[in-house]
Amino acid sequence: MRKVLRFALVAGLLSISARPAAAEDNGFVASLPMATAQTEPLLVSADMREGTDLSGAWHFSIDPYRSGLSGFHGAPPDPRQQRWRDIDTRKAMAEDSRALFEFDMLHAPTVTLPGSWLAERPEMRHYQGLVWYQRHFDLPAGRKGRYFLRFGAANYQTLVFVNGQPVGRHEGGFTPFAFDVTKLLRDGDNQVTIGVDSVSHAESVPPPVTDWENYGGVTRPVRLVHTADTYVDNAWVRLTREGKLAIDARVDGASAAGLPVRLEIPGLKLTLAGKTDAAGNWRATMAAPRALVRWSPERPQLYDVAIAAGEDRWRDRIGFRTIERRGAEILLNGKPIFLRGISMHEEEISANPARQITPEAARRLLGEIKDGLHGNYVRLSHYPHSEVMTRTADELGLLVWSEVPVYWMVAWTNPDTLAAARNMVAENVLRDRNRAAVAIWSVSNETPVSEARNAFLRTLIADVRKLDDTRLVSAALLVERDKVAGPPSMTMADPLAEDLDVLAINTYNGWYTPDDLAVLPNSVWHVPSDKPLVFSEFGADAKAGFHDPDHPQKFSEEFQAEFYRQTLAMAERLPTLRGTSPWILKDFRAPIRQNPDFQQGWNRKGLISETGERKLAFSVLAEWYARKAGEKAK
Ligand code: GCU
Repeated sequence: MRKVLRFALVAGLLSISARPAAAEDNGFVASLPMATAQTEPLLVSADMREGTDLSGAWHFSIDPYRSGLSGFHGAPPDPRQQRWRDIDTRKAMAEDSRALFEFDMLHAPTVTLPGSWLAERPEMRHYQGLVWYQRHFDLPAGRKGRYFLRFGAANYQTLVFVNGQPVGRHEGGFTPFAFDVTKLLRDGDNQVTIGVDSVSHAESVPPPVTDWENYGGVTRPVRLVHTADTYVDNAWVRLTREGKLAIDARVDGASAAGLPVRLEIPGLKLTLAGKTDAAGNWRATMAAPRALVRWSPERPQLYDVAIAAGEDRWRDRIGFRTIERRGAEILLNGKPIFLRGISMHEEEISANPARQITPEAARRLLGEIKDGLHGNYVRLSHYPHSEVMTRTADELGLLVWSEVPVYWMVAWTNPDTLAAARNMVAENVLRDRNRAAVAIWSVSNETPVSEARNAFLRTLIADVRKLDDTRLVSAALLVERDKVAGPPSMTMADPLAEDLDVLAINTYNGWYTPDDLAVLPNSVWHVPSDKPLVFSEFGADAKAGFHDPDHPQKFSEEFQAEFYRQTLAMAERLPTLRGTSPWILKDFRAPIRQNPDFQQGWNRKGLISETGERKLAFSVLAEWYARKAGEKAK
């Protein structure tokens, strides 16, 4: 016996230095149920539901070798490393001299959530790996109803524990997920522990190499959402292209079947009564009231909408409009529209952003587009942004391109990768299909053409169309440069173009190519003429404040401004062009950009700097959009 004990102690000591085998291998992570759009509570418009916001100070503990997930020689995690345990380790060791714990979440330092760890502490600036978070919260005795832990998003893989019990896990850094934790809660003090692993791998979505910073951590609010035992989990209220008001709702809970339900839109003096079917679903349509004011960027009319179901009351603020394609026209409420936009990453204006999008941060960014650039559209790239952003676009009147991070080199033939991407599409569409602002769902950005890629993306396109028949589908595509002398000659040869409603092209002639800017307006574009074309990206870097008026070199504000003048002159000549979202509104963190004079880890293609200074090119685009808006106004 003693011999065995000594061996274990020695072995224990050894484990500090020996790197444990891959955490996944021991099946511990896989033993936690995976939250997906098919399995999880959806809690659509959860942000409008009663609940406790768990934002604020959380204890944190880094776990670079994932010892909390994998013990000695890859064994399941050792109790002395299990950060989620419901224990005060300092007290336990003080009371029992044999006790050993190599963590103490209760007395660990704290960080503020939501917000990525990389902006929180200098020593975490470039940390990519596993971090454990923990906090406590109190609950009254005699509680009724159900309690859900709902995450706005956490990047990339998240493991959740409550009161020392495993709850579940989630993959994906940009979409919401939730768990019903009603049965795990207790009166008084409760403890929640989250493990967030930011490391992506070749099979993840997005893959490891991108042109943006991998903001690890809990980047959006965590809330304890409270509902009745039977509640409306999913609801979609919209205007169909035929001008009908349509409702789809799913009630979850013991009395979901055959339950009387009622839609209420007080602003339209409208109520519609119905009953759920045996599965708790309610589907209804009705003629849209005459008084309905359709949502548009000029008049972003929103209505308070409620669905009463038993003791539950689901609420949302919804705008009603139609968006469709007819030939090469994009029609908003039946009228042709030109999308005056810009692309944007989810990063607040700051010298040290943490991917923390508060309503103020969202208003500041989107206000620059609406008021500064005279825009009516924003491309939220390359992943679903916070629901704060899409709600703010609803309120301000900006149409939205919403995208999933199927970006550059994805593992097209890997079934887990496809499943992860399909889940992100579903979580994104189900979260935001009540947002009038969202007009286009994008399934990818700049992906290389191949049979496997085409099949992968066609699956996503089919999923989107099944989940939402009221919006347009697109993807940011690359074009081929024809090998001819003279001005650039570009051909859209991507077979996926056939499957899309809107042709979207990223082009960087004059920046990533040595073309003289002056030749750009004479560029030739071979693109289908029966579909609307948008330039989803074009742009040039400029370091704010670097001026070179005499012979503008790249990275000077003058070069960027001239790049815009010439590219917009080119755009003017394209008969089917129906929108532009240049790259990009604001300089953003991008680890692949390391020119010491001009970039310092930032992509400088912003029209404003990371702290919000406008560059010369800002007014070039603003004037072009003002003229376009004027043309529209006439
Ligand atoms: C690409 C890509 C962006 C990137 C941009 C750039 O087109 O879609 O993510 O940041 O070009 O090169 O600046």
